[in-house]
Amino acid sequence: MAAGMGNPIIANCASKTTSPAILGGDPLITTHDWPSWPQWNSDTDEKRLLEVMRSGVWSRDKITEEFEKRWAQMMGSKRCLAVVNGTNALNTSLAQLEIGWGDEVLVTPYTFIASVSCILFNGAIPVFVDVDPKTFQMDPSKIEEKITPFTKAILPVHILGLPCDMERIMGIARKHNLLVVEDSCQAWLAEINGKKVGTFGNAGCFSFQTSKNMPIGEGGAIISDDDELMDRCFSFHNYGNPYGSTAGQIGAGTVMIGTKLRITEYQAAIGLAQLERLDKQTTVRNENAAFLKSLIGKIPGIVPYELYENVTKAAFHLFPFLYQKEDFKDLPKNKFLEALRAEGVPCSGGYTELNKMPFLKNAFESKYYRKFYPEERLDYEKYMNENMCPLNEKLCNEQAIWIPQNILLGSKSDMKNIAFAIEKVFNNAEQIKNK
Ligand SMILES: Cc1ncc(COP(=O)(O)O)c(C=O)c1O
Repeated sequence: MAAGMGNPIIANCASKTTSPAILGGDPLITTHDWPSWPQWNSDTDEKRLLEVMRSGVWSRDKITEEFEKRWAQMMGSKRCLAVVNGTNALNTSLAQLEIGWGDEVLVTPYTFIASVSCILFNGAIPVFVDVDPKTFQMDPSKIEEKITPFTKAILPVHILGLPCDMERIMGIARKHNLLVVEDSCQAWLAEINGKKVGTFGNAGCFSFQTSKNMPIGEGGAIISDDDELMDRCFSFHNYGNPYGSTAGQIGAGTVMIGTKLRITEYQAAIGLAQLERLDKQTTVRNENAAFLKSLIGKIPGIVPYELYENVTKAAFHLFPFLYQKEDFKDLPKNKFLEALRAEGVPCSGGYTELNKMPFLKNAFESKYYRKFYPEERLDYEKYMNENMCPLNEKLCNEQAIWIPQNILLGSKSDMKNIAFAIEKVFNNAEQIKNK
């Protein structure tokens, strides 16, 4: 029999009396298949795809235009441009807003590499703003202290699909005359007071890579109400060929530096098919996340994510919570994860510290950075000291636990089982630690 008797924390949780799976007991979740990912309809979606193939029109055309129109409509944005991926949506937005050499861009360290590499790709310097661990987002109260005469933009990342405090961030941006590019690559349909994330700043960027809640395989999008910016993005993504207002300015022929970032009609067709289910799936994720949060919030040492007050919908690319090992007899985070996985719950420890990774030093030491920047701006040791983010460090190394989005498409009883599994690990923490 497992350690600790008495009443279960979560009603009807029977796990107290069974041995933890990591110590040879039966897993709490045994024969269950979690919802698979990506999902598609073998009838209607495959038909859309075959139609593209049989039409012989495979490169960017009407279906891509339709997808862009639909995404812009769903976002409540004037314009949308589909591009090859979220990484290049970010690269392009920054480039066309002329954020680059000499500039500093404020960004969270708690994100995927592309949120930071887009800044370096354009020749600017990322400046890290520490996180608010309760929400997992860039802490708006720490932004202003990081602003210098070089600061050109803020790059809020709605990480894990939970919206940043955009109203506050936009207030700071307006006050200091900064541009804002929203990395919404994990935040499809998330909203603040009914307004979709990605529509607050000068541009919003999305990813449609396979693991994402809106999966196409690869794909991305830029949205904005700024016609001139969107015309420039369009030209840039098509070799710098004239488009809209860029055509009028300079005349015929290639009008600006560009590259090729166009998606295919196949991708657009899959995108249109995915749009049919995104809204409903987002509702299910929100409902299950709230339910799971209400259950696991009762377990000592488990602190589920918080949403800012004005958030009306999250995307939940991941379901995050904070783990406090003090309440789990000092069981380290990696052992907690192992024990939970053994019970049949897919989970991970999330991001490692981006602001300490070698790619930053590599950029500072590169030929281009050394050519452009004066030596004092490339003092890496000073930069590192100024960009320490202690709360992010703790979040990455000790606290953050993620459950993937497809799990949130399960049933209410699946959510209960996840909570029971966590309670089971809690009840047996001492034994697991000593294994
Ligand atoms: C926060 C964030 N930004 C940017 C990206 C880049 O998107 P993509 O993989 O489509 O290039 C991702 C994708 O993983 C992401 O999660």
